[in-house]
Amino acid sequence: MKVDVILGLQWGDEGKGKIVDYLASNYDIVARFQGGPNAGHTLKFDNQKFVLHTIPSGIFRAGLINLIGNGVVIDPITLEKESKTLDDANIDYMNRLLISKKAHLILPTHRNLDVASEAAKGLNKIGSTLKGIGPTYMDKTGRNGLRVGDIISPDFMNKYNVLKKKHLDLLKSFPSVDFDLESEEKRWFESIEFLKKFQFVNGEYYINEQLDKGKKILAEGAQGSMLDIDFGTYPFVTSSNTLTSGVCIGLGISPNRIGEVIGITKAYCTRVGSGPFPSELDNEQGEWLRQQGGEFGSTTGRARRCGWIDLVQLKYTIMLNGVTQLVMTKIDVLQDLESIEACVAYRINGEVTEEIPYEINDVKIETITQSFSGWNASTAGITVHSDLPKEAIVYLNSIEKSLGVPFTMISTGPERESLIIK
Ligand code: GDP
Ligand code: IMO
Ligand code: MG
Repeated sequence: MKVDVILGLQWGDEGKGKIVDYLASNYDIVARFQGGPNAGHTLKFDNQKFVLHTIPSGIFRAGLINLIGNGVVIDPITLEKESKTLDDANIDYMNRLLISKKAHLILPTHRNLDVASEAAKGLNKIGSTLKGIGPTYMDKTGRNGLRVGDIISPDFMNKYNVLKKKHLDLLKSFPSVDFDLESEEKRWFESIEFLKKFQFVNGEYYINEQLDKGKKILAEGAQGSMLDIDFGTYPFVTSSNTLTSGVCIGLGISPNRIGEVIGITKAYCTRVGSGPFPSELDNEQGEWLRQQGGEFGSTTGRARRCGWIDLVQLKYTIMLNGVTQLVMTKIDVLQDLESIEACVAYRINGEVTEEIPYEINDVKIETITQSFSGWNASTAGITVHSDLPKEAIVYLNSIEKSLGVPFTMISTGPERESLIIK
């Protein structure tokens, strides 16, 4: 068996949680392979709404196992908080969730460092979620990190204190920021006790054994391909590999075990935080999209920047990920527009290009767009493709043709069942 992958093709928040939750019923295991509590995946069903940060979006399906892979960074405080929201809904997460011993831990001082480092950057800040993601991955690659498997080691307190001291020394080189370390540490150690209740596994053995047994596995991406540490709009990116290739490293499987790659795009485009966004609409039209689409961050509540769909950007991330199926979400948001634009090329210093330039942060990019007629009808909740207005079908067909990969699902609302399966 192979691992199918779902990931975002833009700058995050494409609706990954909704699609993973829907598809989970076809799988035996759902696994997160990178990122951490910077993610906010929203699920809506049975008049309930959940936002998951660390726990995979298959958690609501009985009989299914969820795995937090080695590539994920875990803040035990967030994990405990998230778990409590599941308690309220009577979800038996303890028996459905496995955690890789090799996943790294976010310490309170990692969050403190994230805040201080962003403050020091001033106007050049990344717009981090301030969850400690960057500093934790830095310690991972710097070979200083603490891993989940360490918390049961008799030497854990010593390891913690060594790393904390390193962080406190490092913090001296940043402007001081408000951070109540003592109370955060107290909460953190309480949450470590909670974390100990979960079942820890050697994730790489577990996942390969399950594949050998014929189990079906779905890998759930976090963030988006344009936030990838190597191929995103560096330095305005996150600190992990968000692409299909990250699945191999973040779970411990070989590349020939990757199956379908399902890439998600919104019907338009959003980005939260700083950095280039060529098709951004920094105007009334963008504000309209923000209000109509409810584009406010699931993790931080920040207003998301909005713009038209960008086919240059999508072709790039389809290439990087080896996407075999496309999903479009939020088509319902585009109702009542006179016309809808799609960016098809960039003009930079008079030259037309269909590639993402290395200098994306520094050059002025003028977008060349194709116009589509809008539709004056609601598509909210539509589940049958032929019920879409004909203008919406023209829009979808044209984008599909241009991207060269078929749309297999079109999402028409936040609820689990608001979905067209083609
Ligand atoms: P994720 O991080 O990729 O899981 O996405 P988020 O949950 O951060 O953001 C997506 C938002 O759009 C959430 O509020 C979802 O409930 C909502 N959503 C997902 N699909 C649709 C859709 O097709 N239409 C509408 N209107 N909202 C959607
Ligand atoms: P989901 O999984 C959207 C953005 C932040 C910031 C940059 C770096 O919900 O799609 P970090 O905290 O990782 O150091 O922030 O990345 N970012 C996201 N934007 N959705 C996310 O996750 C994101 N996770 C991080 O806004 O610009
Ligand atoms: Mg999100």
